[in-house]
Amino acid sequence: MSSKKLIVILGATGNQGGSVAETFLREPEWRVRAVTRNPLGSKAQALAARGADVVKADLDDPSSLSSAFEDAHAIFAVSDFWGLFGDPASQAKAEAAAQPLNIWAANHETQQLKDVIDAAAKIPSLERFVLSSLSDATKWSGGKYSHVYHFDSKANGETYGRENHPELWAKTSIFQAGYFLSNFVSNPITLPRKNTSGVAQFIGGLDPDVELPFIAAEEDTGPIVRALVLEPATKEVIGYRARITLRGLIETFSQVTGMKAEAVVLPKGESVVPFPPELQRELDDNWAYWKEFGYYGSDPAIVDPQDLEHAPKLNSVADYFRKQDWSKILGS
Ligand SMILES: NC(=O)c1ccc[n+]([C@@H]2O[C@H](COP(=O)([O-])OP(=O)(O)OC[C@H]3O[C@@H](n4cnc5c(N)ncnc54)[C@H](OP(=O)(O)O)[C@@H]3O)[C@@H](O)[C@H]2O)c1
Repeated sequence: MSSKKLIVILGATGNQGGSVAETFLREPEWRVRAVTRNPLGSKAQALAARGADVVKADLDDPSSLSSAFEDAHAIFAVSDFWGLFGDPASQAKAEAAAQPLNIWAANHETQQLKDVIDAAAKIPSLERFVLSSLSDATKWSGGKYSHVYHFDSKANGETYGRENHPELWAKTSIFQAGYFLSNFVSNPITLPRKNTSGVAQFIGGLDPDVELPFIAAEEDTGPIVRALVLEPATKEVIGYRARITLRGLIETFSQVTGMKAEAVVLPKGESVVPFPPELQRELDDNWAYWKEFGYYGSDPAIVDPQDLEHAPKLNSVADYFRKQDWSKILGS
């Protein structure tokens, strides 16, 4: 039997979990068990080639989670609202439940998190549980913004764990991922678009003067989660590499690329592509919640990555933008 500690990583083929896997594969004291639904997929195979033990499990199959968590000293748990929302199979399930798709996805995500938490609570070897969560927009806005489903769904999972599994919660730390910088590189809704004058436009409902925590989730999650695993539990961290406004971000983009760029703010109710009404409502509430209450409400428990004992050294937003091939996104 190995004397190394074992971290089990959900979402290991994705942005956040992939970064956690990358970090812990470099830790000599740790071995990595990477969880995926598809162990033969290229990302899973690449993890196996790097020394991870790749196992098959599904958030929709609680018994597979129990097997995947066996003997774990640490677990990193992440759920995927947008994966559920975008899965063609979800539409029929939402219709059967007579719910708009985003509300169904949120309820389903919360159930997945409850199952993950129940399974983790039964692992006697477990020393640290790190949950990727987001703020409870309904609670922190005093009920004003009650449609930010993909935030509340994770917060509801977190609340379930806190209320029902005090022993597990004494070993738990919370990681809230900031707004992904990759939204400007690979998300068709938030990609910058070049107008006829050659100006790169960042178009959306987000107020450009609201300061937000921005993270390169695929790079920064691992170093932040490493700190949460090594330090005493019950920390709650907002994961980010820079607190900056969208306007500041666009200035950085211009400095790095030499391109003219601007923010274009769409009025409430509008998006770059037409959305189903309930999703538009969710996004409108999302932008308004951030503007009025901040990304994580006024949650006093939240600390910054630099306040951790093992504060990670992260790259800058300029570093991130410098690395991207903008010609692929904006043309030459
Ligand atoms: N975009 C943003 O700005 C932002 C900010 C904060 C938080 N978030 C949240 O980040 C979450 C997504 O995280 P991410 O970007 O790290 O993931 P991602 O890159 O989109 O990948 C999704 C991961 O989840 C795994 N997964 C999905 N469904 C699963 C299931 N049923 N069973 C087991 N594994 C499953 C996938 O594994 P396999 O496919 O290999 O099974 C994959 O590793 C979303 O919930 C979103 O709300 C996003």
